[in-house]
Amino acid sequence: TQEMRDIGGAPVIIGAGVAGLVTALHLAPQPVVLLSTTPLGTDASSTLAQGGLAASVGEDDSPELHLTDTLAAGDGLCDETMARRVVEALPNAIDHLIRLGAPFNRALDGKLRLGLEAAHSRRRIVHAAGDATGRELFRTLLAAIRRTRSITILEGVTALRLVVAEGGIVGVLAARHSGTFALPTRRVVLATGGIGGLFNDTTNPLGSFGHGLALAACAGAELADLEFVQFHPTALDSPRRPMPLVSEAVRGEGAVLVDEHGQRFLANTPGAELASRDVVARAISCQLTVGRRVYLDARQCLGQKFARRFPAIDAACRQAGIDPAIEPIPVRPAAHYHMGGVAVDAEGRSSVSGLWACGEVACTGLHGANRLASNSLAEAVATAAWVAASVGGTCAGWQWPRLPSAGPLRPDPSPLRQVVSNALGIIRNGKGLRQAVAALLPIAVGETAAADPGLVAMLISIAALRREESRGSHHRSDFPGRGAAALPSRLTLCTAFENA
Ligand code: SIN
Repeated sequence: TQEMRDIGGAPVIIGAGVAGLVTALHLAPQPVVLLSTTPLGTDASSTLAQGGLAASVGEDDSPELHLTDTLAAGDGLCDETMARRVVEALPNAIDHLIRLGAPFNRALDGKLRLGLEAAHSRRRIVHAAGDATGRELFRTLLAAIRRTRSITILEGVTALRLVVAEGGIVGVLAARHSGTFALPTRRVVLATGGIGGLFNDTTNPLGSFGHGLALAACAGAELADLEFVQFHPTALDSPRRPMPLVSEAVRGEGAVLVDEHGQRFLANTPGAELASRDVVARAISCQLTVGRRVYLDARQCLGQKFARRFPAIDAACRQAGIDPAIEPIPVRPAAHYHMGGVAVDAEGRSSVSGLWACGEVACTGLHGANRLASNSLAEAVATAAWVAASVGGTCAGWQWPRLPSAGPLRPDPSPLRQVVSNALGIIRNGKGLRQAVAALLPIAVGETAAADPGLVAMLISIAALRREESRGSHHRSDFPGRGAAALPSRLTLCTAFENA
């Protein structure tokens, strides 16, 4: 039998990045329990975000223009209704963060200073501390969380399994180093972030292996568009892991991509260095594949101003022995964001009763086949309000259920990284994906949570194998063209294994 922790049926949020924290704040004063595998703020990818939050707050901007850019980047796969709802909500969501104390950068006249990033037709990136937006936003939210007595934070606690009975969620099995225990609840919000930790080259915390996807899949939830993994074109090419990002905002200020001979290779591409992320990442990958090195050259546009505008990037470059004011920065693409996730409706509800998802782990339809830069923190803060309203408004009568036990084994994605990086990188093909599925299958079917990274990697491989076209971030060398229609993809654990 399992030790039970009485939480009075309060909802449980799994994951304490920006999505989890904002959802918890919106739920107040209703009690909520927030689980964080690591001490708060030490392993959330949102703390690493540089660029900022996209919102149409500039005088020359409008939600309509933000929507147009979002849909164009999404390459036919965005849910337009959802995308419209999100971009229209963003200016208010930014105001809410400002009221909480978010220290967004301002110009001398007091107006928000707005950055430019790839595939945005306007300057609309709200940022803080130059290039440390995630860190500053997280700090603001954490202070608000600590002031909010209705939020119980359980640090060092990992959710191992969601328990489903009578057609819905009845609890969470969790582990702390001292052992496992059960949290009876009929309302769970997944806010666990992405999957970059499955790859050798990533900008995400190395523990980001798709924890929430595994929990949702094992609970029977529908997952959507898993094959769409975004590679950020310009991670700093150094041995450091996770790889430090060199924000798109640097290209927004005019930095150019060059090969080792100083030749620009994107000058003739529409949008050039500010073409959409998938296009730039593929172009860099092609250069690297033929043995060239790729650099981001900010000497002319920023020079000595670099350190003031981008202090964190400057520090990361200097740590790698590079002075971006006088030297080009070596860069390469790295796994950065997962557009796919738990399929959710406009209130963040999954297909399993009592299970919601918010932030990167969710697939709301905003991003389609390729996310527009700085639309991720933006999505998290906008949708968290709707998720909280839905969770808070759900009647959750509960009683002590009988919960099964689960082994306390911790998942570790590191043994999978080579297989995943080979098969699910920027350019994919059927042969490589079939090999990956065959290699991952025996790893993915284990009894405990230790199998979860393998399960997630296998589900993504199956989704990528099934999409026989190239669209957005998903590029198949054996199917280089776009299909006639833009079709979202859906799978569950059962339907995935049927064809594996
Ligand atoms: C960046 O600053 O380039 C990253 C922004 C994002 O991933 O949205």
